[in-house]
Amino acid sequence: MILVTGGAGFIGANFVLDWRERCDEPVVNLDKLTYAGNLGNLAALKGDAKHVFVHGDIGDRALVESLLATHRPRAIINFAAESHVDRSIHGPAAFIETNVVGTFSLLEAARAYWAALPEVERARFRFVQISTDEVYGSLAPGAPSFAETCAYEPNSPYSASKASSDHLVRAYHHTYGLPTLTTNCSNNYGPRQFPEKLIPLMLHCALAGKPLPVYGDGLHVRDWLYVGDHCAAICAVIERGRPGETYNVGGNAEMANLDVVRTLCRILAAHKPGCNAEERITFVKDRLGHDRRYAIDASKIRRELGWSPRETFESGISRTVRWYLDNEAWLAAVASKEYQKWISLNYAAQAA
Ligand code: NAD
Ligand code: DAU
Repeated sequence: MILVTGGAGFIGANFVLDWRERCDEPVVNLDKLTYAGNLGNLAALKGDAKHVFVHGDIGDRALVESLLATHRPRAIINFAAESHVDRSIHGPAAFIETNVVGTFSLLEAARAYWAALPEVERARFRFVQISTDEVYGSLAPGAPSFAETCAYEPNSPYSASKASSDHLVRAYHHTYGLPTLTTNCSNNYGPRQFPEKLIPLMLHCALAGKPLPVYGDGLHVRDWLYVGDHCAAICAVIERGRPGETYNVGGNAEMANLDVVRTLCRILAAHKPGCNAEERITFVKDRLGHDRRYAIDASKIRRELGWSPRETFESGISRTVRWYLDNEAWLAAVASKEYQKWISLNYAAQAA
């Protein structure tokens, strides 16, 4: 049995679905169901007795303690977080609450549970922290990719909150011996991503006949990874990772935002002749403190754990576009009132 937190969100839900497909081990899934959490993401698991969904907060110590005592997981995989950089700029408090205080509370519950386990189970236990490449800050063009040895230099309230939680995770290993592992991954894309993030937002705008808002000059670079490859990397870390270590995970697929958006528009046009989304690309005011470039050196996880991505950007993005076209009802359902409110707030501020 494993305990996943944040398993109704984008990466967490993909992880839980993949996990139940690849093995028979049960999953307890603790999620607060914020705007980003969506039980519709887990619809395929309806009737699966080996998936137990619990609506709750990682910061609710009593709830987490009772879940640990009842289900006795061999691992905790912490996906739960506030995850959107733009929202952290408009309202950082929730990021501190969940990403810092919530992770601290989860670590405390994990430490007490782990310390009381019989020796064999204690040796086998793992706490896996799902983190981001954004904690390393921004790279200059041509600078070497982020390695695990790079210093943390977070630039947004989001990345600072993730950096804080990573430091706590590290300290719990160093001080108490809790068998923690941390993954620092680059930008994910794929099915079930909330349409506030670049790729699903652009798909949503393209399909709705709206402008496609590109920040600044559109030349900011991200390293894109298909979500299924990220999930496979996390499985490798759970099974073969060394406690106390961190592993960078990336797709070796650096691209400027404008190229990503143009690629999307072309794939869409091939599926929907007459879709003129590319003409609707609109440059808007830049994100405050916008990091120019991220790139991941994933050689450690490849060398030590034998992981490498299966999808190229071309294959992964085609699968993703097809998923969104086949699931327009999913997109319509998540584009709720709260979502419209967010879009008005953010893009009024971004208007050039
Ligand atoms: P998401 O925003 O889609 O999902 C987050 C999930 O966490 C939601 O289901 C939400 O309801 C839940 N949640 C939020 N606060 C909670 C709380 N206090 N208690 C319990 N559940 C809570 O995020 P995502 O994109 O799936 O990211 C998942 C994790 O991966 C995050 O930790 C993020 O920092 C990290 N990450 C994301 C990316 C990416 O490109 N999306 C890349 C690297 C790392
Ligand atoms: O690098 C990993 C990180 O990737 C994760 O830790 C975060 O949780 C995840 O949200 C993502 O952060 P980014 O800020 O890189 O992702 P986002 O999709 O918000 O933006 C990607 C790039 O596209 C970024 O340079 C900003 C730009 N952008 C984004 C939006 C939403 C636009 O140009 N226009 C937009 O409307």
